[in-house]
Amino acid sequence: MSKDLSVAILGATGAVGQELLELLAERKFPLKELKLLASPRSAGSKIVFNGQEITVEAVNEKSFEGVDIVLASAGGSTSKAWAKRAVEAGAVVIDNSSAFRMDDDVPLVVPEINPEAAAKHQGIIANPNCTTILMGVAIYPLHQVQPIKRIVVSTYQSASGAGARAMEEAKSQARDILDGKQPQAEILPYPIAFNLFPHNSPLNEQGYCEEEMKMVNETRKIFDAPELKITATCVRVPILRAHSEAINLEFAQPFEVAKAKELIAAAPGVKVVEDWQSNYFPMPIDATGQDPVLVGRIRQDISQDCGLELWLCGDQIRKGAALNAIQIAELLLAKNLLTTSDSAVSV
Ligand code: A2P
Repeated sequence: MSKDLSVAILGATGAVGQELLELLAERKFPLKELKLLASPRSAGSKIVFNGQEITVEAVNEKSFEGVDIVLASAGGSTSKAWAKRAVEAGAVVIDNSSAFRMDDDVPLVVPEINPEAAAKHQGIIANPNCTTILMGVAIYPLHQVQPIKRIVVSTYQSASGAGARAMEEAKSQARDILDGKQPQAEILPYPIAFNLFPHNSPLNEQGYCEEEMKMVNETRKIFDAPELKITATCVRVPILRAHSEAINLEFAQPFEVAKAKELIAAAPGVKVVEDWQSNYFPMPIDATGQDPVLVGRIRQDISQDCGLELWLCGDQIRKGAALNAIQIAELLLAKNLLTTSDSAVSV
C-alpha cells in the first residue's frame, strides 16, 4: 500500500459504521483523513478514533470533496441520494446497501470469491448482503471444484442485522419480559426476545421475502452462475450478533465429505469448527467479533447421493458487512484501482 487515503464513512454512528471504524484502526488502513458522516440527528457528536476525537458531520453537498473512498452504510435511500454525488466528486464508493447491487455496471464483490470483478468498477462497488457473503465464502471452495447445482439454505439472523437500535430493542425486550412487563416492538415489527419470525422484508408474489431473493440473485452474480438454483428461508432469531445458516448443497456427482472439509479448511476467510466427540460446532457467541466464517457439521446428505449438508455462523457486522467493505478498499489500493486525490486536508 503506497499512499495514504482520505476516507469518509457514511453512516458512521450505525452498527456497521462503528465496526468500520474499529477495522480501519485494527488493520492500520493507511489514512490521511477520516470523515464521519451521518444524519443531522448525529451532527456535532464526537467519536474517538485512534485516540483522536472526530466530530460527526451531517452529510451534505461538500462532504465528498477530496475524499478517495466512501464506505457507505446508511441504508439504501441514503446511498441513492449521495453515492453518485460522491463519485462525481472523485471518490470510489463501497456501498453496503442494496441500492446498486444488481446494477450491471456495479461489481458485487467478495474478495475471497471474485476480486477480479472490482477492476470493472465505474465509481461504485457494492458490498453484498450479509447472509450472502457468509454463505458464499463457505461454499465457493466447493463450487470451484465441482459446480453446485442447487442450494437450499435456511438462515437464523440476529437482531443486529436490522441495525444498532434493533439490538438495543432486543435487550430491552428481554429485560421487560423477565420483569413481567409487555415487550415493546418499535424497530423490528414484532417482539424478538424469546421469539423468532420470518424475515420481515417485503414479500414478492411468489411468497419469497426480499432478504431471501437477495441470497438467490446476489449469489448468482458473485459466483457468475446465472443458472444456479437457490431457495432460501430467512428467519430473524433472538440473537444479538452473528448470523447462522443451515445449507444443503446438491452437485452433479457425489462430493466426498473428507475432500469438502479439506477444501473448506484451506479456503481464505473460513475456519472449520467441528468436534464430533463433544457435539461442538459453530455458535453465534463464538463467531461474534471474529473475522472468519465458522463452518461445521459438514456431512453427507442422507437423502441424496450427490448432496452435502453444512452449518455456519459468521459475524454479519464483520465479514457480512464492515470487514468485506474494508477488504474491498484494501483490494482497490493493492491493485491500484483508485485515483487518489491530493487535495484533502490532513488530520
Ligand atoms: P444517525 O445515527 O444520525 O441516524 P444502523 O444501520 O445501525 O441503524 O445505522 C444507520 C446509520 O445510517 C447511522 O449512522 C445513521 O445516522 C445513518 N443514517 C440514517 N439515515 C441517514 C440519512 N438520511 N443521512 C445520513 N445518514 C443517515
